[in-house]
Amino acid sequence: MPSLQELIQLHQEEINNLNAADAAELENYRIRFLGAKGIVKNLSAEMKNVPADQRKEAGQILNAFKNLAEEKYEVFKNLLQKEADKGPSIDMSLPGTPLPIGTRHPLRMVENQIVSIFEKIGFSVATGPEIEDDWHNFTSLNMPEHHPARDMQDTFYVSQNPDWVLRTHTSSVQARILETQPLPVRVICPGRVYRNETISARAHCFFHQCEGLYVDKNVSFADLKQTLYYFVTEMFGPDTKVRFRPSYFPFTEPSAEMDISCTVCGGSGCNLCKHSGWVEILGCGMVHPNMLRNFGIDPEVYTGFAFGMGVERITQVKFQVNDLRLYSQNDVRFLRQFQGL
Ligand code: PHE
Repeated sequence: MPSLQELIQLHQEEINNLNAADAAELENYRIRFLGAKGIVKNLSAEMKNVPADQRKEAGQILNAFKNLAEEKYEVFKNLLQKEADKGPSIDMSLPGTPLPIGTRHPLRMVENQIVSIFEKIGFSVATGPEIEDDWHNFTSLNMPEHHPARDMQDTFYVSQNPDWVLRTHTSSVQARILETQPLPVRVICPGRVYRNETISARAHCFFHQCEGLYVDKNVSFADLKQTLYYFVTEMFGPDTKVRFRPSYFPFTEPSAEMDISCTVCGGSGCNLCKHSGWVEILGCGMVHPNMLRNFGIDPEVYTGFAFGMGVERITQVKFQVNDLRLYSQNDVRFLRQFQGL
């Protein structure tokens, strides 16, 4: 039978090798060594069998062993407590789970840019409904029923009400502004418009416009030209040239279409400008006196200009997108190409 000293030595080794990983292991250890029927208690009971001349020495060894067992318990208890206080352990160096995020649509980016260019010179944003009545989309814009100009735009009618259409242009917002706002007005109207066209690379049944309206005393065609020239230099750069060609819109007189020098070839001829050196980007003109009268405005006192551009067209000229359908397919491989531009 091993002596008390030998027994102590054996258990001492066990304690030295102890590694309590969790509270349950620590509790096992406490019961095994420090419990009412534990090793320390048992070894103390052995003292009576130690010969009297060795008892003093054995008592010291036993005491040291008891201290060691208790200390070890305290050390592990504190360690586990510290771990518990820290909360669940997180590896801060692990890369996070990537969240798939979308991108801003190129049409929205260009629309934002158009709007902010005009905001810098005092235009404010105005919007209106996409389902319009005949008055705001046509009649008040100097296009009474049976006016041939109505055929310029293939209209979607709303079956529930013969007076309702999906607006064919954002000029309807001009009408709503003249109807409700006191003069002078200076607004830019971005929005979606609808035309009954067969979908192809060059046409779509809906697209986006940005239309401007300025009505005040003494507004002239020179103001219109200068405003649009400012817009073009901001949008396409200071070297861009502009030219105006006479045109026709029922709600403007005189009317014009504006071209800019080709942004791809600079005028020498390419696919974008169809080898003409010029690309058409918008329609414009002086607000027709009939339209002003429709809203109780005296054309002898007030004059104004209006212009309207297609956001898809501006985006196409800026980024050489040659298929309109790409804009509505939501293919992120297409949409991502415009990030940061
Ligand atoms: N509304 C016209 C169109 O959709 C554009 C335009 C707006 C023309 C304002 C002149 C003045 O084609």
